[in-house]
Amino acid sequence: MRVKFNFGKPSGTEDLYDREDEVKKVISILTGNGSAALSSIRGMGKSLLVRAAAEHITDKAIVWIDLENVYSSLDLTQQLISGIHGAKGVSGADENALNEVRQNMLTSSFSASGFLDTYFNSYIFHVDRPVLVLDEITHARRLGRLYDHMMNILYHGVKHGAFQVMMISSEMGAMLETFNSKQLPFNSLLEWVSLKPLDEPTSVNFLFEGLEFYGASCPKKMIYEYYRITEGIPVWLALSGIRMVEGLCNPEGIYRDDRSVKYVLEQLVELSKKEIEMLRLISQKQHVGLAGTHLKRSLNSLIRKGLVAGAPSGYMIPDPIMEHMLKYEIL
Ligand SMILES: Nc1ncnc2c1ncn2[C@@H]1O[C@H](COP(=O)(O)OP(=O)(O)O)[C@@H](O)[C@H]1O
Ligand SMILES: [Mg+2]
Repeated sequence: MRVKFNFGKPSGTEDLYDREDEVKKVISILTGNGSAALSSIRGMGKSLLVRAAAEHITDKAIVWIDLENVYSSLDLTQQLISGIHGAKGVSGADENALNEVRQNMLTSSFSASGFLDTYFNSYIFHVDRPVLVLDEITHARRLGRLYDHMMNILYHGVKHGAFQVMMISSEMGAMLETFNSKQLPFNSLLEWVSLKPLDEPTSVNFLFEGLEFYGASCPKKMIYEYYRITEGIPVWLALSGIRMVEGLCNPEGIYRDDRSVKYVLEQLVELSKKEIEMLRLISQKQHVGLAGTHLKRSLNSLIRKGLVAGAPSGYMIPDPIMEHMLKYEIL
């Protein structure tokens, strides 16, 4: 395998390093007509992993619905339509009907909820063996009742075997809340797939092989130090690799690298001042027990967003680069 370092641009699934077991697991669930959920912090390689597994599923229609940047009901409809269009091996996607929906979306009478009930539902019911991949599904929570409506359709569709789902989210807390809800007990219908950071030997091999491919090198000690700092999280390992190819053999430089700052900032921009204040307290290992109620509320929403996790020793920020930037006020 030729290791290439990809950061920030869509990487091809041929760039997937390791993860054989996880890919096999996803393939076996989907070929067995099951459904699954996958949650981890951002950058762990969820989307890449599922894309790689989906390439092996040739006898089902994979409908990839990206909910990452869904802010309105129109965005949601657009993503559903583009998912349908992008599904391989689907001949039933009626272009005229979809174009009509597109036209209607600009009129005041258009209802996304109606689209879900009529067009989307009937379309899915006519497709042979559809698998809906819902990437960053919990982001659609901001749509409120429309999200509940969509979850309702998904729950009953899976329950009655109309389709399978593969749900992906970086918001661990929100995902658990959704799946443990009493009304729609998704947990009983899904299998969880877990995704951990790459272990030390795998991470180090990834970096060594990539450096060899690019004809670059850095002292061995520094390569290990890059692993220690990034804790084997694929997106940070990939950036470490790129930095070393650029001749940047200083691992601590990753904390101030424009690309890291941008990647972390993208996750922080949507937070409130209180949430950021709370994140900083946690990064500095301060006692959040003493914080006021308004800050405690921020703690819960940070957990929901997957940016904070509860550890036996207290709360922690699972992304080591984000934690460092907050702790030393780089951000
Ligand atoms: N197993 C892997 N091997 C090589 N690169 C990976 C791997 N997993 C993730 N990456 C890289 O890390 C970045 C983040 O991956 P992505 O799938 O977008 O993560 P997530 O969906 O969990 O946020 C991408 O640039 C991808 O190329
Ligand atoms: Mg993703």
